[in-house]
Amino acid sequence: MYSEKVMDHFQNPRNVGEIENASGVGTVGNAKCGDIMRIYLDINDDGIIQDVKFKTFGCGAAVATSSMATEMVKGKSVQEALQVTNKAVMEALDGLPPVKVHCSLLAEEAIHAALWDYAEKKGIRIEGLAKPKSDIHEGEEAEEY
Ligand code: FES
Repeated sequence: MYSEKVMDHFQNPRNVGEIENASGVGTVGNAKCGDIMRIYLDINDDGIIQDVKFKTFGCGAAVATSSMATEMVKGKSVQEALQVTNKAVMEALDGLPPVKVHCSLLAEEAIHAALWDYAEKKGIRIEGLAKPKSDIHEGEEAEEY
């Protein structure tokens, strides 16, 4: 049911933890399943994501996608990190079962929420970044379930 990559990232998740004095922190939840994700970003003066950590109260698919998503945004610029969509993360993991697709949105939305927090703290605007929802279940009906 799950690819080897999903199982690997679930069993050995990368970048689990917290960053003290993070440049941006984002927390999102999905009220339907009750899962919660928090992402911490450490962004340097050049706008490069030097470090990223995550913590979750989430299912295995949420753990695996967050682990992969954090690996994919590390070392990237803020603009490049915005291109790391849940679809890109799922492709990197060789896919997820359809009922687990929504779990991959937690990581994407939490990264966006952390970038939003960073932009607010710095008083800047990030091109292409919309204010994140704290509950990703809102408006999710249109998504594949
Ligand atoms: Fe909630 Fe997977 S079931 S994130």
